Amino acid sequence: MGAIRLEKVRKAFGDVVIIPELDLDIEEGEFVVFVGPSGCGKSTLLRLIAGLEDVTDGKITIDGVDATTLPPAKRRLAMVFQSYALYPHMSVRKNIAFPLKMAGMDQAEIEKRVNNAAKILNLDNYIDRRPGQLSGGQRQRVAIGRAIVREPAAFLFDEPLSNLDAALRVGMRLEISELHQRLKTTMIYVTHDQVEAMTMADKIVVLNAGNIEQVGSPLELYSKPRNTFVAGFIGSPKMNLLNGGEAKKHNAATIGVRPEHISLSTSEGQWKGTVKVSEHLGSDTYLHVESPVHAEPLTVRAGGEFPVHYGDTIYLTPQEDKIHRFDDKGLAIR
Ligand SMILES: Nc1ncnc2c1ncn2[C@@H]1O[C@H](COP(=O)(O)OP(=O)(O)OP(=O)(O)O)[C@@H](O)[C@H]1O
Ligand SMILES: [Mg+2]
Repeated sequence: MGAIRLEKVRKAFGDVVIIPELDLDIEEGEFVVFVGPSGCGKSTLLRLIAGLEDVTDGKITIDGVDATTLPPAKRRLAMVFQSYALYPHMSVRKNIAFPLKMAGMDQAEIEKRVNNAAKILNLDNYIDRRPGQLSGGQRQRVAIGRAIVREPAAFLFDEPLSNLDAALRVGMRLEISELHQRLKTTMIYVTHDQVEAMTMADKIVVLNAGNIEQVGSPLELYSKPRNTFVAGFIGSPKMNLLNGGEAKKHNAATIGVRPEHISLSTSEGQWKGTVKVSEHLGSDTYLHVESPVHAEPLTVRAGGEFPVHYGDTIYLTPQEDKIHRFDDKGLAIR
């Protein structure tokens, strides 16, 4: 259960085309992450799948059944939002039970499912509290619980963790990954967070202005981006993209090299530069190096204790086998 297929899906709001034409296959049990710049259509795509928006054209199939015009309730999908909108006057138990009650399910079955969800999400001890008496992470778990009890064919998450503080995000990220391992239900997850995308996904879909730039496993996108957009989008800090004219021997319009694939020396190397900023993170140091051969400063990753300062001269040498080459249309040359 939970195989979802989009065929030639198009979405326009009035004259404004948000998704020109999109094909995508999501396999049963897969964890798929949508990433892309703000406004590229991630939430719209999720809402089309959920049935909260109608497609302008094209077809959506869920488990082989044409769902294009099915109302949301008939699609057996459960959506979890960033703002989880729990009912403040209801206990956790009642919040989780709510969608089942609305659907008229019998009381014994509701109780069984709510208890099961509470156990899966470690909410047993909070079951009689109200949302106001819970932490942000616990509230987000209640919202997920409300989705779990429906036993959906797929979960749709729209930036579910972006309201949480950094430490909680890490905890919830692991919990959702674990939940996926246990339930093996299809999950589609929208995020802005590079680490979430890289660590949670079986498959990442990179969107840009309503078009798919590339679909692949996190490591495929990292090591074989098919164009400069994906190259610059996946990976943090970003890949350095340099005008190929400045590195003629590579025979490319643009060359790309990641901050972690450049070696540093204080005495010799391929490109001479000047340290503009050094960011010490403890585990790593990120240097922003200005070099006469490149218009923009290059970002380079060094060890945690790399001893450099503003204004120091430094030599950079890219690792030859890690250089990405792109043609004048921005497509990868292989
Ligand atoms: N109901 C609507 N009417 C008109 N335009 C809309 C509507 N909903 C969304 N849009 C537009 O569609 C585009 C895509 O919006 P969407 O919310 O899908 O982006 P997103 O990728 O989720 O962005 P973000 O990362 O900021 O959440 C935006 O330009 C937005 O303004
Ligand atoms: Mg969005």
